[in-house]
Amino acid sequence: MAYSGCISREWSITKMGKLDGKVAIVTGGGSGIGRATALLFAREGAKVVVADITGKEKETVSEIGAGAIAAHVDVSISADIRAMIEAARGNFGRLDILFNNAGIEGAQAPTADCTEENFDRVIAVNLRGVFLGMKYAIPAMLAGGGGSIINTASIAGLVGFMNIPAYCASKGAVVQLTKTAALEYATQNLRVNAICPGVIWTPMVERFTGGTEEGKAAMAGLEPVGRMGTAEEVASLALYLASDESGFVTGTAIPIDGGFVAR
Ligand SMILES: NC(=O)c1ccc[n+]([C@@H]2O[C@H](COP(=O)([O-])OP(=O)(O)OC[C@H]3O[C@@H](n4cnc5c(N)ncnc54)[C@H](O)[C@@H]3O)[C@@H](O)[C@H]2O)c1
Repeated sequence: MAYSGCISREWSITKMGKLDGKVAIVTGGGSGIGRATALLFAREGAKVVVADITGKEKETVSEIGAGAIAAHVDVSISADIRAMIEAARGNFGRLDILFNNAGIEGAQAPTADCTEENFDRVIAVNLRGVFLGMKYAIPAMLAGGGGSIINTASIAGLVGFMNIPAYCASKGAVVQLTKTAALEYATQNLRVNAICPGVIWTPMVERFTGGTEEGKAAMAGLEPVGRMGTAEEVASLALYLASDESGFVTGTAIPIDGGFVAR
């Protein structure tokens, strides 16, 4: 006799997202790693505030559709950061995840030729921007019971690179800011981690190639695995750190670099 229970039962298969019910901010969300991460966070169920300085944040938001809003932000400006966090809370009621990812490479020159203006701007965006994001997001996250902050550092925050002194200094400092905040809030269900990408194929790296195939091959050749990473691969790491799957991970600076810093 056939098992009739199977025939009458209606199965409703609902895919659970890894970030269902969570609210995230992604800075630098108009391009590259930030864009890929905003799309992935939204696909995994998060409401997303996509922040950028270019206007491209609106393009990412239209790709996502419902459940995302754009914030036009210069991360080096305190008032912009505070407005961005208020946008998250005002529109979505809470803040669980901050992906502090906006960054610039600055001009290339050895230390003695790095202008003071270049040094100040790179530090303002890459370091002050991350600091301001944490400073104003932490109270909002604690008010909701905790959360996860992911700061984009770089392999350039772990080892030196010639001709980008301000960039290396900013990313090294992001690693230290990350560890400090992780310790400060460890008992309050607030985790803070840094990701340290290697050479990832985004508009930033495209600028380093000089727009040539030779330049592209040279950048790929820096990686032990023989290729550049993708923005989507970095987004997957950000998703892990944002989600509850990484509940015991805090204070880390994780290379995602095709083996670059293993040498
Ligand atoms: N691509 C790589 O190989 C690589 C490697 C290591 C680290 N990173 C870091 O990853 C992050 C993302 O870079 P990407 O490769 O996606 O580059 P990208 O240039 O494609 O994206 C960076 C985004 O940050 C935004 N941004 C710049 N200044 C801003 C400001 N003041 N306020 C708000 N937004 C601002 C830009 O408009 C852009 O949309 C950066 O922090 C970068 O330093 C990238």
